Amino acid sequence: MADRNQAAYARPSLVRYYGQLHQLQPAEQGILERLKDHLPAMAMLDIGVGGGRTTQHFWPRVGDYTGIDYSAEMIAACRARLGCSGSTLAGSDLAAPPSARAGLKAPNLAVMDARDLSAFTDHSFDLIWFSFNGLDYVSHADRLQVLREVHRVGKPGAYFVFSSHNLRGIAQAFDYRLHLSFNPLSAYVDLVMWGLLRWFNRGIQMSDLAQSDHLILRDESHNFALQTYYIHPAAQVEQLAFGFRPIEVYPWTQRHPVKSLEDPALASPLWLYYLCQVL
Ligand SMILES: C[S@@+](CC[C@H](N)C(=O)[O-])C[C@H]1O[C@@H](n2cnc3c(N)ncnc32)[C@H](O)[C@@H]1O
Repeated sequence: MADRNQAAYARPSLVRYYGQLHQLQPAEQGILERLKDHLPAMAMLDIGVGGGRTTQHFWPRVGDYTGIDYSAEMIAACRARLGCSGSTLAGSDLAAPPSARAGLKAPNLAVMDARDLSAFTDHSFDLIWFSFNGLDYVSHADRLQVLREVHRVGKPGAYFVFSSHNLRGIAQAFDYRLHLSFNPLSAYVDLVMWGLLRWFNRGIQMSDLAQSDHLILRDESHNFALQTYYIHPAAQVEQLAFGFRPIEVYPWTQRHPVKSLEDPALASPLWLYYLCQVL
């Protein structure tokens, strides 16, 4: 699974796509706002930086910024976007005001797999970020390995922020009744997408979606090219319990966490953000 996804993330079309993304998602904005006073004193590890969407927002704000991605092509795009070669700055097109960039330490950008963070010693980082579902592109066993590595390189009390696909959300997309509408054109397009979703996941039944903690699916992003891990929010919280607490859950569309895992706001978003701290 990881090899197939890694090859997809080297494709020029995906590199171009992630290289032009700019905005933080609403949940990320809320979390940034919450942490902003602490950022200048923080050493940050940004995993799966892709084309540098989050780099633009965090590098100017944190004390020390390290971004990694297992796709060499993504790291090259990120460097090109920031106007730095290797770790040497050569001007930049950052969104931050010039005053915030004056005297800025160059970002460390490296090709590295989150499953093996042995280049970093234990307790190296105050903030570890793995955004836009990057964690979902490795197998279940590898995901647990990534979480162990994140736990190891985080200082006690370090924040870990990531998003992951929501098994509750995709369950709705599998139900054809939710794709019917009075507008014939949108009903047609929706039903074609529904048919493709069912075809690419033909071994998976509705009952699997209801009963599983997690599943590997092929969804419509990047034309069904990726194998993607979807997890039930309660199972995600349990998966983190070995070394992270407290755990807050945010629909990606909201700047505030939900109050409980029973909140109906968790039923439909296709991905959720999790904020927790290393124990
Ligand atoms: C959906 S893209 C998001 C890119 C970027 N974070 C953003 O928000 O625009 C996921 C990124 O995670 C990277 N990735 C996935 N698994 C990884 C792993 N095991 N180690 C490092 N990077 C990984 C991919 O190469 C890809 O660039």
